[in-house]
Amino acid sequence: MANSQQPKTMSIGVFDSGMGGLSVWQEIAIALPEESLIFFGDGLNCPYGSKSREQVLGYTVNGVEKLLAEGCKMIVIACNTATAVAIDYLRSHYPDVPFVGLEPAVKPAALSTKSGTVAVLATARSLEGELFQHTSALYADKVNIIKAVGEGFVELVERGEENTPQAFEAVRGVVEPLIAAGADRIVLGCTHYPFLRQTIERVIGERDVEVIDSGSAVSRRVAQLLDMYGLRAESGSEPRYEFMTLADDDYLDRLIFRAYGCDCEEEAEEGDSTEER
Ligand code: DGL
Repeated sequence: MANSQQPKTMSIGVFDSGMGGLSVWQEIAIALPEESLIFFGDGLNCPYGSKSREQVLGYTVNGVEKLLAEGCKMIVIACNTATAVAIDYLRSHYPDVPFVGLEPAVKPAALSTKSGTVAVLATARSLEGELFQHTSALYADKVNIIKAVGEGFVELVERGEENTPQAFEAVRGVVEPLIAAGADRIVLGCTHYPFLRQTIERVIGERDVEVIDSGSAVSRRVAQLLDMYGLRAESGSEPRYEFMTLADDDYLDRLIFRAYGCDCEEEAEEGDSTEER
């Protein structure tokens, strides 16, 4: 955190392979409206879910380095895939930096299921990760956990096609078998998937199946760590929102449009929004 700014006034860095992490950015902007945020959406190397561990680690370290160079006081890895691969490495190589990682919300699903079957939707790389294996093992004797990869979901969100007939068909192809297998909780274990929530809920229809994501748990954890490290922005602070990508200007525009087109528009407009690459 080599920066002349006071630590409390520095931004929180939010990292993702692409636009999915904006679902987490949105939760943090709403829950912590005085905090400045720098969102880094790689965009060039997305999707990460089908890449090797070494590639995902390299991309993630590169993004984190860029956020730290901007003087971020904390980094949120708003990507389950990058968290699964890189969080231990990041915590051991940057011991002074508070990191928050994303992991599928298996616990609330396991504690609330009535059918006893919980489905976890994530990328292949996340589902095979030790973090997920460990968490699911904690509940494996109490509930049946079924896993599914959201094939093509990340690409649909990146193209802004989450409300199209193609998206509905892609979601139906993955979600119907989960419901048929008895799942009454569907955990969104990828930060791109909340953008498909409406489509998922349309597929579910009237059936008693609940969709669960990690967004609010993450913003609570960010708040906890800010207090723990004495890094919370002063009361009344005006937030700054900045956006970075490795992709082109068109991608950056779409990223910003997606961020500001969300429910937190009011808060976002109050901030000093700058665009960076
Ligand atoms: N948002 C990332 C995640 O949560 C997307 C993965 C990808 O890029 O494939 O896993």
